[in-house]
Amino acid sequence: MKIVLGIGGGIAAYKAAELARALLEPGHEVQVIMTQAAQEFVRPLTFAALTGRKVITGMFPAQTGGDTLASAVEHIAVATSSDLLVVAPATADLMAKFAHGLADDFLSTLYLAFTGPVVLAPAMNTNMWRHAATQRNLETLQQRGHHIVGPEEGELACGMVGPGRMSEPEKIAAAVCAVLSARRDLEGETVLVTAGPTQEPLDPVRFISNRSSGKMGYALAEAARARGAEVVLVSGPVALGPPAGVKVVRVRTAVEMREAVLAHLEWASIIVKAAAVADYHLARVPEHKMKKTAARLSVELDPTPDILAEVGRRKGGRLLVGFAAETQDLVAEARRKLVSKGCDLLVGNRVDREGVGFESDDNEVTLVSCTGEVTPLPRAPKRELADRIYDELLKLRLTIHAAR
Ligand code: PMT
Repeated sequence: MKIVLGIGGGIAAYKAAELARALLEPGHEVQVIMTQAAQEFVRPLTFAALTGRKVITGMFPAQTGGDTLASAVEHIAVATSSDLLVVAPATADLMAKFAHGLADDFLSTLYLAFTGPVVLAPAMNTNMWRHAATQRNLETLQQRGHHIVGPEEGELACGMVGPGRMSEPEKIAAAVCAVLSARRDLEGETVLVTAGPTQEPLDPVRFISNRSSGKMGYALAEAARARGAEVVLVSGPVALGPPAGVKVVRVRTAVEMREAVLAHLEWASIIVKAAAVADYHLARVPEHKMKKTAARLSVELDPTPDILAEVGRRKGGRLLVGFAAETQDLVAEARRKLVSKGCDLLVGNRVDREGVGFESDDNEVTLVSCTGEVTPLPRAPKRELADRIYDELLKLRLTIHAAR
């Protein structure tokens, strides 16, 4: 898992080094972000050496470790690619910023852009902790669902005795691990995912197909399983192994895919259609290989069944996620497909750009929801985007239910 460790400016910042080590131990990736004040207490080099990564020390390119436009929006990239944000020590100032949505440095800006679980380990002087302002901020942060670890009672660096001491790194690391393993928000759901291309035969040895590798759909199946869902993956012909714990139904043509999808329709509570289904096929495939006799060959193709549109008509209360593979007018086309195919969420992606779309490990998508929201998700590994898609889908379900 990818963890962001935010370090605030307090004497307890030195304990964050132990925390980084404890988080690295089970194999997590740890990206450290230090506020300006934190750097007065501990040098970023300590954390760079521990984590093997450049420490982010500020908002602007020289501080984020880059000199390009990409580094100027680094907070978004880090926010969208991370599984959890832990802030230790969480100072009174950071808690106030988070509670009120101030965004004047990298950590507070990332906090606003981050949609995953947040763990805060407060540390401050006893009077600051007890102050009505801090307690009000604490309440706000708790209501937001953040996990608060500590503070502990004891002797503080300022000489006072009382609550305010940051919890020990092992305790914070244990809380982080508990939160990560508790992300089972799809438990009880039955998720049907389609992936890969279809192959439409022209004769017994030739077929029409496309460049889909199945990576996007397999990532969606894997993510749903990791979050506790039962998953059936209807897969066209691909070179990928089955994701752990997922039932795979292998199909070849659009007609076979339709049958497999409809067979699981009643069972599914969420349907995600990432497959690149051929739009046309030869309705009657010749029994024997075509001979090379004519100088020119014309083949008349018929439309394949539109599986997504059919599911859209029959979905009842199920959540339906469609995809749109486009080379132009991404948002307009995604909107059109969302409505015409009866989806709740449409994932639009460009398939004419290097490094994203077909075959690549990464993708860059724009989500269009039935409530009219348009959410661009920047380039990231398909597995990470899969999680973001479920995050947005679960939020959308709450909005749909609230509107009923
Ligand atoms: O497999 P990868 O290499 O990882 O690439 C991922 C991807 C680019 C294939 C994936 O992200 C993607 O965009 N999938 C949908 C591709 C597609 O068929 O898009 P479309 O715009 O042509 O179709 C719109 C939707 O209708 C899709 O959800 C598709 O599954 C569905 N459809 C299309 C035709 C058809 N006959 N039946 C369908 O259900």
